[in-house]
Amino acid sequence: MQNEAMQNSNMTDPFGRDITYLRVSVTDRCDFRCTYCMSEDMTFLPRKDLLTLEELDRLCSAFIHKGVKKLRLTGGEPLVRKNIMSFVRTLSRHLESGALEEITITTNGSQLAKYASELADYGVKRVNVSLDTLDAAKFHDITRRGMVGQVMEGIDAAKKAGLAIKLNMVALNGFNDHEIIPMMKWAHGEGMDLTMIETMPMGEIDGDRNELYLPLSKVRESLRENFTLTDIPYKTGGPARYMQVAETGGRLGFITPLTHNFCESCNRVRLTCTGTLYMCLGQDDAADLRAPLRESEGDELLSAAIDEAISRKPKGHDFIIDRDNKGPAVSRHMSLTGG
Ligand code: 5AD
Ligand code: SF4
Repeated sequence: MQNEAMQNSNMTDPFGRDITYLRVSVTDRCDFRCTYCMSEDMTFLPRKDLLTLEELDRLCSAFIHKGVKKLRLTGGEPLVRKNIMSFVRTLSRHLESGALEEITITTNGSQLAKYASELADYGVKRVNVSLDTLDAAKFHDITRRGMVGQVMEGIDAAKKAGLAIKLNMVALNGFNDHEIIPMMKWAHGEGMDLTMIETMPMGEIDGDRNELYLPLSKVRESLRENFTLTDIPYKTGGPARYMQVAETGGRLGFITPLTHNFCESCNRVRLTCTGTLYMCLGQDDAADLRAPLRESEGDELLSAAIDEAISRKPKGHDFIIDRDNKGPAVSRHMSLTGG
């Protein structure tokens, strides 16, 4: 029995880190064009290069048999992929069997009003919603086309469906630094966690990312002037470090790839919608899983290719935002692999 044999083959990388978390970018497309993420005339992958949802399911299932416990669907915007709900429904069999502990999703919220209750039906319990500003005009500016009202409706729907919501806010110098406190108060007041993210030098964008970069160490220090922040051991499996905010009673997370490297506890790998596996968000090295997937109906070749890829997982990324170096550290966009 091939699957039973594979169930025990847990994935451990050369640095002793167990790989239990798979992030799957189901599409590189997005209905927004956030200025720090992509350029206005972003070129997307040709549709013919996409794996079918059946193929993606086979890949995910192989990873689950090899020890993945948490799956996050990302993009681009995962909810714009055609038939995405049938994909989630199929994956949910692994929740029912107990092989998988959790399916989560990172979304820009634009389609959440439509899908929140179905997601809950298929066993999704938590969603991450990206929201960089509450101001409608600024929201439209930063996303180049998004409507904040639509995202708010999505958040409401998610809440009604009983989903736990975490907001992701990219800290952008001179854009939303003055909104961090209002965003936090609002999020915590509504029972949502808030995580701040530093801009990462991934993919070409139209402007200068250096000017947008706001170190979160600075944000934390200025928050301390008005709030009592206490480190807490809360973990969601991702790279965020959380603090409890006494005044709001909520949790504030910090994802600081630049000011504090979190690679030592990395438990994840990233799969794209073309079957490319990235072993690190901040490195170019990747493994092609599409060829072994398509080469045979059984999963032996695929399983061997995954093992080989994991054996190459690098120790960490070396993102730096360097004033003299204008180019991105990795050429691919975040929208190819998700956050
Ligand atoms: N740096 C930091 N965060 C980014 N995101 C997209 N591109 C970047 C980048 N270059 C964010 C999105 C979303 C999360 C998945 O990653 O806003 O919240
Ligand atoms: Fe789309 Fe997210 Fe990139 Fe914005 S940050 S353009 S929502 S993928």
